[in-house]
Amino acid sequence: MGVCLSAQIKAESPFNTVFNSKYVSTDGNDLGSTNDKVSANSVPQTPRSEGEILQSSNLKSFTLSELKTATRNFRPDSVLGEGGFGSVFKGWIDENSLTATKPGTGIVIAVKRLNQDGIQGHREWLAEVNYLGQLSHPHLVRLIGFCLEDEHRLLVYEFMPRGSLENHLFRRGSYFQPLSWSLRLKVALDAAKGLAFLHSAEAKVIYRDFKTSNVLLDSKYNAKLSDFGLAKDGPTGDKSHVSTRVMGTYGYAAPEYLATGHLTAKSDVYSFGVVLLEMLSGKRAVDKNRPSGQHNLVEWAKPFMANKRKIFRVLDTRLQGQYSTDDAYKLATLALRCLSIESKFRPNMDQVVTTLEQLQLSNVNGGPRVRRRSADVNRGHQNPSSVNGSRVRRRSADDISRLETPNAYPRPSASPLYT
Ligand SMILES: Nc1ncnc2c1ncn2[C@@H]1O[C@H](COP(=O)(O)OP(=O)(O)OP(=O)(O)O)[C@@H](O)[C@H]1O
Ligand SMILES: [Mg+2]
Repeated sequence: MGVCLSAQIKAESPFNTVFNSKYVSTDGNDLGSTNDKVSANSVPQTPRSEGEILQSSNLKSFTLSELKTATRNFRPDSVLGEGGFGSVFKGWIDENSLTATKPGTGIVIAVKRLNQDGIQGHREWLAEVNYLGQLSHPHLVRLIGFCLEDEHRLLVYEFMPRGSLENHLFRRGSYFQPLSWSLRLKVALDAAKGLAFLHSAEAKVIYRDFKTSNVLLDSKYNAKLSDFGLAKDGPTGDKSHVSTRVMGTYGYAAPEYLATGHLTAKSDVYSFGVVLLEMLSGKRAVDKNRPSGQHNLVEWAKPFMANKRKIFRVLDTRLQGQYSTDDAYKLATLALRCLSIESKFRPNMDQVVTTLEQLQLSNVNGGPRVRRRSADVNRGHQNPSSVNGSRVRRRSADDISRLETPNAYPRPSASPLYT
């Protein structure tokens, strides 16, 4: 998990007395946008009242007792992960009736149980139901239903067997093997498509919490965005931004948003740039355990990324031999553009998708590498496809599809992440 903004900014909201420690707020009015939403959209106008949200959503309303049965009474050994809002449990339901089934039968679900009550937890729970109840896309995680009973608030999602991108990038150990270059490109592209959809005229949503722990992976490494607790309706009409309290995770938030609270789709693009850099480097956005001067990844990496001969200093050493210098430089350049201090110089997510698609194509075809190989030899550069003097075979499309099958990595039976 990222370091909290709350460590940086003083909370002023009267609502913050009952807060989860992750977020910080500078005003108290955040669930619904104050903008009038122009509704020529296929996504229904965002409802405002809780009753409207719960009634209008296409989600199943579960009872607590159903979810207890589905998760074997929230057994500790079925915990899939912990976040700022509580634990996520693995459970089982019948595919058609959506009623709880015996473990191992029916479909697998992930049940998120909010462990704090209070206004903020409820708001974000409701925002999740609001947005994911209306939005449907291959790169957004599917919300199946919710439970609202007394003080209990739960969310029921499709199960994402490979867990979060965060685990794959940063956890060491046999459960989480390092992601290959090809898979990183794929995951980046999938996530970019999810954000591009949110920003599209169809949805007009600003996600506001793009980070590696919110990118979840299915068995084939298809990436989907989860956690819409901070999502906001984008600006409408001739407005350039939405004014909001500053919330998010430290290290991912755009500088102008931190400074002014003005939120635009370009704030998400900045966060995407941070994640892209984390994927390139295998390093967390913020890590106080790194040597001084390197705590903030973006600040440390930027000068190297702008220089083709220096980007190898930023690149994850576990990727050695899997990419061409040209491709790495293009990806670093894309990340740098997303990380532009001035938001107008950042690309929009459609442009990001296009660039990533081109990179994926060139990775599969091997075009740039073939051209670069002779050029690098002429310039006397070390060829990254050659490690310790022995040539590493370039990945073919076949290799990539093999890698993307669920069995590409050992399946740790002890991990509840795996069915
Ligand atoms: N649908 C899901 N399928 C499988 N695992 C999931 C699912 N949703 C969440 N998880 C796991 O549970 C963990 C906790 O998720 P959660 O969204 O509560 O917190 P987080 O994103 O890690 O942190 P934060 O509270 O900062 O958002 C995730 O990192 C992931 O490993
Ligand atoms: Mg999350």
